[in-house]
Amino acid sequence: MDQNELKRAVARAALAQLVDDAIVGVGSGSTVDLFIDELAASGRRFAGAVSCSENSTRRMRGHGIKVLDFNEVVRSGEPIPVHVDGADEIDPGMCMIKGGGGALTREKIVAAAVGRFVCIVDRSKCVEVLGNFALPIEVIPMALELVCRELRAIGATPRLRADFITDNGNLIVTAAGLAISDPVALESEINQWPGVVCNGLFARRPADLALVAAPEGVQALTARHA
Ligand code: 5RP
Repeated sequence: MDQNELKRAVARAALAQLVDDAIVGVGSGSTVDLFIDELAASGRRFAGAVSCSENSTRRMRGHGIKVLDFNEVVRSGEPIPVHVDGADEIDPGMCMIKGGGGALTREKIVAAAVGRFVCIVDRSKCVEVLGNFALPIEVIPMALELVCRELRAIGATPRLRADFITDNGNLIVTAAGLAISDPVALESEINQWPGVVCNGLFARRPADLALVAAPEGVQALTARHA
């Protein structure tokens, strides 16, 4: 099975997690693109979706899926029992690095409003310690150099993602060279820096369930506590 087949297998497996007639949270990225396709083809009954990126919104609308305004949903108090999103890395505690597609801020906003976060990945994304994947950080343009300086001070190598503007009109800086032993602490620290909109550590609100695709099948994992 190639990586795309693994992504499709895990995208399909996520359908079993959905709650009938409820709103579903839909993340972003190539695995989620396949989830959107599977969702549209599934015939499942659901009340519409909240979206984490313009790309996901376009893809859903292309399939005729109703994309709901996130603020309207939150204001209405209507629950979003399940949210399905990918990750760039996930550790045994279900903490993740996300943002490879640059949608981390909207992904984190939606994740904060949902019941269960179901992370869909292939096995290559499972790591013991986060940080091999350079951590994406969404930065207000004026703060670029300041944030890069802060990153160097904690031992990271920052790099501006070239020719990329987020859906919110900001920049993405990636931080390489971090072995992230305390993801909760680092997530909180980086979020304190002026000009940082959001960083791609999802540790304060980790996934509740990881569906992990491997050639042998899709495995369901929850947090492993030491
Ligand atoms: C986008 C994300 C994606 O979920 C993450 O990058 C994984 O993407 P893919 O499924 O393409 O490997 O966080 O901001």
